[in-house]
Amino acid sequence: MSEKRANQSTKKRADQKENFSISPDGEAFPLPRPEDYQKEFKRLQKIVAAQRKEGREIVVVMGLGFVGAVMAGVVADSVQKPKQIEADGVMNRQGNVTLSSSKGMARQGNVTLSLACPELAEGKGHHDRQQPSKAHHDTLCHPELVEGPLPRFPKFVIGVQRPSVRSFWKIPLLNRGIAPVEAEDPEVAPMIARCVKEKKTLIATYTEDALCLADVVVVDVQCDYFKETLGNCRQGHAEIKALEDSLKIIGEKIKPDCLVLIETTVPPGTTEYVAYPILKKAFERRFSTPNNKKGAINPSPTTVTLSSSKGVKGGGSTSYEPSTMSYEPLLSHSYERVMPGREYVASIRDFWRVCSGINEEARKRVAKFLSEVLNVEKYPLTVLDRPVESETCKIVENSYRATILAFLNEWSLFAERNGVDLIKVIKAIKVRPTHSNMIFPGPGIGGYCLPKDGGLGVWAYQKLMGFEDDIFKITPLAIDINDTRSLHAAELVRDALRNMGKIVAASRIAVLGASYREDVGDTRYSGSEILVRKLTEMGGDVVVHDPYVKHWWELEKQDTYPAPGHSWARFFRNQEKLTETRIQDNLASALKGVDAVVLAVKHQAYLKLTPDEIIKMTKRPVAIIDCFGILSDEKIRRFFELDCEVKGLGRGHVKRIKDSLKR
Ligand SMILES: NC(=O)c1ccc[n+]([C@@H]2O[C@H](COP(=O)([O-])OP(=O)(O)OC[C@H]3O[C@@H](n4cnc5c(N)ncnc54)[C@H](O)[C@@H]3O)[C@@H](O)[C@H]2O)c1
Repeated sequence: MSEKRANQSTKKRADQKENFSISPDGEAFPLPRPEDYQKEFKRLQKIVAAQRKEGREIVVVMGLGFVGAVMAGVVADSVQKPKQIEADGVMNRQGNVTLSSSKGMARQGNVTLSLACPELAEGKGHHDRQQPSKAHHDTLCHPELVEGPLPRFPKFVIGVQRPSVRSFWKIPLLNRGIAPVEAEDPEVAPMIARCVKEKKTLIATYTEDALCLADVVVVDVQCDYFKETLGNCRQGHAEIKALEDSLKIIGEKIKPDCLVLIETTVPPGTTEYVAYPILKKAFERRFSTPNNKKGAINPSPTTVTLSSSKGVKGGGSTSYEPSTMSYEPLLSHSYERVMPGREYVASIRDFWRVCSGINEEARKRVAKFLSEVLNVEKYPLTVLDRPVESETCKIVENSYRATILAFLNEWSLFAERNGVDLIKVIKAIKVRPTHSNMIFPGPGIGGYCLPKDGGLGVWAYQKLMGFEDDIFKITPLAIDINDTRSLHAAELVRDALRNMGKIVAASRIAVLGASYREDVGDTRYSGSEILVRKLTEMGGDVVVHDPYVKHWWELEKQDTYPAPGHSWARFFRNQEKLTETRIQDNLASALKGVDAVVLAVKHQAYLKLTPDEIIKMTKRPVAIIDCFGILSDEKIRRFFELDCEVKGLGRGHVKRIKDSLKR
């Protein structure tokens, strides 16, 4: 290839990196250019106007990630419920909904609004563009005022996703009816396809101006907890910037009567101490008038009706009437209890929810909204008084789970050192119904939530609530224990190899399972990642198999994933070559010639494997490390008969089986 051509192709690749977003299947989508935004917004306006005519409520879901994409689908898929739903005094009559907020709206004075919303600033929005009558206008802005039966599918959903190189591809894919998340649940893909292509109740966009069109905004962006060290989560902080940025934009764009529902898992207090001030200040800036500038904002929450009848006053200012003087943000909180796996959709739709609102109106609106989209008939909604309570619920719920798992770590070590099989102990205890939720912790506790949520609580206590004392003992300790448990699994690999006269640094080790739990493809913060990193640090040559995971991005893209500087690679030496890791889908080739096999995850495919099958694939005796109580005593015995070495987390009885064979 000539030098010129080589340069051209390098430039093309560089352009592709900056200006394109590549889907997991390798399709390149050009990122939107500045001039595309207006066109995109016009497209949305047109669609929304038609949807409003049909009487649909417009719901914007912000963040088409793992949770947001499926939540968007669940809302878009919801159907008009046949029976009356009462949610905290809000009545939803068949085909004819009455919102308490729309009753008795005060009509006093004109208010000048400064709007960042192009549809309104330009005077081309659905209000101005169509010059509707007052009645028609109310119908457009408040679909609950539509007379006659509501449509069978009452929600129209716009998923808003940042057009970043990493995530933009989700938008065009979703608009084709393809789910932008990989899920084991067979319901996800058809639900997204159905909503986009048949019901036509779901679209995706990159322009945040979509927020101007929303009656409800559901916030599903990420909120991470960054740990500065491994095994000491107190040295860390909540990363709330993405959430704060989203809230700022929401404050600038939404109608004042739009319900904002924060579903992101947040540090307790976030809705009241972070979100409320952001929205409140934005509303004051946008909606202030000579009359209410001096803080004459009515604390009692009421809904504001926007009207187009005054037209545009230029410079992005629009007059509205009628209006009350009150612009209290309608902020609410309800957290996700999503469980990755085959029941993914059900874990959003058919599961109990907790919600709260910042004031009575917000509480009613959120209860009504969730009652319309979730299966609250079977899984009743719990409405709490204040957002800090529902936020605390989520953190306590997950900290409790993390704690009972961490608690077993010390007993697991005890068992290993005293000839006890912890698996049998747990099984015996679980017979008692009061202890039936005991589960063996495996090599660490991964997933997106349990490793971080307690940290969000500890951080909030000091940074949002301003306390200096240290009341948290168990919650951070549980996270620290869970984060480092798999380091002990690496010790067991080392010890089993040593018993066979080998060392990690000169061994090839197969790790079976990359995901954080059985039968899912979710690798976030999995114990296997720490295990692979530790074995690699010790010089081992690691090969990974997982039937559910195609790419292990935490390794393959460790420089940028989950974000630059955030990879767990930073806690270990000798990690560079892990970018070359490719998940094997053929077990026989993954196992061929290895010195050790780590059963790291309880995937179905591994439960059935017999020792003879494994040794047939490895083609020699190996060290077997059981991290999840997978092996029966018979299988352990058989491995020893095949000249293998066996070790297991919490499995102190293994030595007894080995000794019994010598006798
Ligand atoms: N994944 C789970 O299993 C799970 C379970 C329960 C709760 N949660 C909580 O749900 C929330 C979302 O989690 P997730 O797994 O979907 O995260 P994610 O990182 O997969 O998705 C977040 C998405 O939001 C997008 N985003 C960020 N800022 C944005 C903005 N301003 N506008 C538009 N898009 C924006 C990101 O690009 C990303 O696509 C988190 O708070 C998480 O703790 C997750």
